[in-house]
Amino acid sequence: MANGERALQGSLHFSDRENTREKLFKQVWTEELNDVFADVAKYYDRANHVASLGMWNYFRDSFLATIELQGGQKALDVCAGTNAVGLAMLRKQPDLQVTAMDRSAAMQEVGRRRAEQEGFRIESIIGDVHKLPFPDNHFDVVTLQWASRHLRIMDVVREIRRVLKPGGHFYHCDMLRPGSRLVERMYYAYLRVSLSVTAVLFQSNAAARNCKKYFIETLSLFYSAEELSQLLRQLGFEDVSSKTLLRGMIGFHRARKPSSY
Ligand SMILES: C[S@@+](CC[C@H](N)C(=O)[O-])C[C@H]1O[C@@H](n2cnc3c(N)ncnc32)[C@H](O)[C@@H]1O
Repeated sequence: MANGERALQGSLHFSDRENTREKLFKQVWTEELNDVFADVAKYYDRANHVASLGMWNYFRDSFLATIELQGGQKALDVCAGTNAVGLAMLRKQPDLQVTAMDRSAAMQEVGRRRAEQEGFRIESIIGDVHKLPFPDNHFDVVTLQWASRHLRIMDVVREIRRVLKPGGHFYHCDMLRPGSRLVERMYYAYLRVSLSVTAVLFQSNAAARNCKKYFIETLSLFYSAEELSQLLRQLGFEDVSSKTLLRGMIGFHRARKPSSY
């Protein structure tokens, strides 16, 4: 089979999976998630420390270790939430220009206060990241952590590629679908328990409690580390590399927009 044909077949395969994800989850994505994060904002970071058995900052630091930064660069954190990644990048490289974008004003308000407390400035844009309100070839670095399963990821990755400068880097971190069925089953069983425990501990509202099933379903229909690497290559990134933790449950990807774009 010719290379072009193989690439086309692969992209059809990803497009089919994206269509399935959208059909199943569109209602939650467009109508319910904002209510969930409006409630979760006030306890998001504490709940994640509990749910990850104290490994939350370790995951963030492992992600940060994959990110190369230079003074004066422009960085965009997509689905920035409470600014965990933006702040970690600024601690590493204080003269970075960081922009955060998220649809949840409540999550960004927590992020704004955290940045203020640490004496950093992060520009905040409230909006849907499926359309990034930035010019082409604008950022040196774009990051996306813990949010891809809530997105039409191919559309967002295309937008990220558009706003990156040629030679700029995209860094991605998320929970991924593990390669092994056994690990996958254990993973979902653990998530069911930990989501129930955090919902009780932090007195989640109905919207957040109802999302337990959604949360596991999005993961089971998401990509493994290898599949996500393929998807990034098909969408025009080069030098794609990945690292996983906990038998593929967590993955970090790094990808470069070609210099000749
Ligand atoms: C699990 S939080 C992750 C936050 C942050 N990246 C972190 O590492 O802690 C997911 C975030 O994605 C945001 N989000 C989900 N769908 C979005 C969309 N279509 N456009 C913008 N933000 C979105 C939510 O509002 C939420 O703040």
